[in-house]
Amino acid sequence: MPGTVAQAGSASSGTYRASDIVKSYGSVPVLKGLSVSLHPGRIHTTMGENGAGKSTLFKVMAGLVQPNGGTLHLDDAPLLLSSPHEAHLHGIYLVPQEPALMPELTVAETMFVGQLPTTGRWRRIDWSAMRARAQEALHALGLDIDVDAQSRRLSIAQQQQVECAKALLRGCRVILFDEPTSPLTTHEVDRLFSTMRRLRGEGYTLAFISHRMDEVLDISDDISVLRDGALVDSVERPEFDRTRLLSQMVGREMRTIPRRSWSSATTEAVLTVDGLAHAPSFAEVGFTLHRGEILGLAGLVGAGRTEIAETIFGLRRCDAGSVVLDGAPITGLPTHEIIRKGLVYAPEDRARHGAVLPMTIAQNVSAGLIERVRRRWGLMDRDDEDRIGAEAVSQYRVRCAGTDQTLRELSGGNQQKVVFGKWMGLSPAVAILDEPTRGVDVGAKDEIYELIEARARAGTAILVISSEMEELVRLCDRILSIYEGRIVAELHGDGITPERLGRSYLSHAGLGAAA
Ligand SMILES: Nc1ncnc2c1ncn2[C@@H]1O[C@H](COP(=O)(O)OP(=O)(O)OP(=O)(O)O)[C@@H](O)[C@H]1O
Ligand SMILES: [Mg+2]
Repeated sequence: MPGTVAQAGSASSGTYRASDIVKSYGSVPVLKGLSVSLHPGRIHTTMGENGAGKSTLFKVMAGLVQPNGGTLHLDDAPLLLSSPHEAHLHGIYLVPQEPALMPELTVAETMFVGQLPTTGRWRRIDWSAMRARAQEALHALGLDIDVDAQSRRLSIAQQQQVECAKALLRGCRVILFDEPTSPLTTHEVDRLFSTMRRLRGEGYTLAFISHRMDEVLDISDDISVLRDGALVDSVERPEFDRTRLLSQMVGREMRTIPRRSWSSATTEAVLTVDGLAHAPSFAEVGFTLHRGEILGLAGLVGAGRTEIAETIFGLRRCDAGSVVLDGAPITGLPTHEIIRKGLVYAPEDRARHGAVLPMTIAQNVSAGLIERVRRRWGLMDRDDEDRIGAEAVSQYRVRCAGTDQTLRELSGGNQQKVVFGKWMGLSPAVAILDEPTRGVDVGAKDEIYELIEARARAGTAILVISSEMEELVRLCDRILSIYEGRIVAELHGDGITPERLGRSYLSHAGLGAAA
């Protein structure tokens, strides 16, 4: 049980209040006098559009960001948190939106960073105790992760799970989860939720952020809605109402857009993948992508979809098979050659591949275009960069203070929009989009779907990888289901329904009943 691995830390009963919190960056107010209360044995969800201030609120409550005003109280005692470490000592732990485990350390080592167990008079590090306790914490959460594996080998989903185990190891009773589900598939979300429910049952105080309405309605006891750094609504479970929450969040009426009835798919092959294999991730992958077509890859995390995309894009070597783009083989070419030939890949883990966080919005968006601009006009200048950046900001509705803001300062969803803009600006022949709306709010999601459809209409062939079934159903002309590195089913046109899609790969995982 989680309680058995908890040790250090002060176990308090856990009512955690933030009152009148004010936070500005420069002259830009981000939190405008915000108050929320978290209670033991309850899950409190904060909703709001990208940039509304949700992560900033959590960071203030976890000692990561110092507010300009307001107070924090844990069980009526005032708290001043000058660092995350201090928050841990008070039993408060933040599982961040982008977990950043130290890549060189093993799982067990990263779990004990800052509090390595020691033994004997010389206080030598007790490696075997460390491994055993790490293993125990992971098992308590029902997780099957090797404690000796290097952190860099973990998927985002696993990194988040390790963060959760770290919270328990530190004896924390207040756990704040910042968008834990955005990189997870339905099955993994179920697993996380059962952990959260168990912790709730044991009286832990839990806070949650998510852009997925179904999940929020499913798991929450209390919901606070933020808009532009202020609280606009606050409801308890019996009063939950989807339409009201959505319109409070965006400040206007929201309509749900059904699956589109038109298709811009042609019969002209642009990308042909044949017999592609990369052991042990995938084998015998073959499909043809047509001009104007939107093709989806569905499956569980770990099914090999990202590996397939990375191999097509030249980031991994293939063991067998071929990739042909516009009639010419591109198998084994270096990535920059592949981009030049018109194939781009917007990766799932934007922090690692897609976005350059210390660079400005303008630099990020124009980075993809540098080759092209240089070839045509010689060097690229600041004005070009600013113009391209400004266009992307308005087209993709990026919330920012200006195009000279660095990506690091943008909210998660807004970083995603910049990465998307960077690749789409190239008008590619083929675009592979891995989780294109990860962390994007409900309003902006529809905007991104419309932009993807507009690109397809303009002739780009699009391959979408997504863990959200609704997203694939909404977008795709055709869907391939991948299970353990092989294509196991194909759905098209009106045959695409959430039920059939779920069944197409979950039945292979022995989870057919859940579909
Ligand atoms: N270090 C920083 N410097 C300047 N501005 C910042 C910084 N961190 C956050 N901001 C700004 O504060 C606002 C709120 O950001 P926050 O990350 O809290 O949003 P969010 O509600 O979590 O959004 P998302 O759903 O996209 O994750 C954003 O407009 C963001 O650009
Ligand atoms: Mg956020």
